[in-house]
Amino acid sequence: MFGRKKTVAPETSPSDLDETRIPKHVAIIMDGNGRWAQKRHLPRVAGHKEGMNTVKKVTIAASHLGIKVLTLYAFSTENWKRSENEVNYLMQLPVDFFDTFVPDLVKENVRVNVMGYTDQLPQKTQTAVNNAIADTAHCTGMILNFALNYGGQAEIVTAIQKIAQKVADGNQQVADITTETVDQALMTAPLAPYNNPDLLIRTSGEERISNFLLWQIAYSELVFTEGYWPDFDDTELRRCIGQFQQRDRRFGGVKQPKNK
Ligand code: FPP
Repeated sequence: MFGRKKTVAPETSPSDLDETRIPKHVAIIMDGNGRWAQKRHLPRVAGHKEGMNTVKKVTIAASHLGIKVLTLYAFSTENWKRSENEVNYLMQLPVDFFDTFVPDLVKENVRVNVMGYTDQLPQKTQTAVNNAIADTAHCTGMILNFALNYGGQAEIVTAIQKIAQKVADGNQQVADITTETVDQALMTAPLAPYNNPDLLIRTSGEERISNFLLWQIAYSELVFTEGYWPDFDDTELRRCIGQFQQRDRRFGGVKQPKNK
């Protein structure tokens, strides 16, 4: 009866964004494709197909908003546990995506980057990815960064191996290892100066990180949305950015009072 009233941050209208405070790097865990399909009595892969169309729409919307890097979690190092049929479908998706969308990416001046253990992907997927990277290499606008066969823990292990090898070779002093050394050894190094997401979004109501960008999200703002990924759109993206703009980012410091 006298339950505590939940305080909800005032909603920002999606049309009401501060254009000067658009997050530079937005990362998205695109979750809920399977449930979207299940709700419609469709096979899970139908959700992934619709999810791919959402990627196209959201990429254009993000580019128009002035986002510098959009990182999308397309396949994790743990997703191999899914059925062979689903894995095969997910490996075909980048082929279909880039086959149909590279001309639009070039028109939008969007450059493709891929991070993950891509050498373990089927040859057709590797070829599609490498062609998309080459075909958009001249683009100077937003970076569309796919995490494909990516896992945050594996990435950190690989980075430690790289740094340890430098030490073993006499090219790195242990005492000189800094956060920058680690930044430079991670798969996000080519995104510099936007290595770390300002905003991390996860769709579908789940509130987990699922081994995504574990080092890089140290100070990211996290936004969890209820809808499934295939239903995500421009308006939802703007709403998430609206929430980001209401957050008070202190990076471990203390907010300075105004006029000081
Ligand atoms: C998570 O939803 C989604 C994935 C594991 C795949 C993400 C892939 C896409 C959105 C397609 C776009 C990819 C490219 C390369 C353009 P889920 O299947 O875990 O959903 P569930 O939790 O409802 O089962």
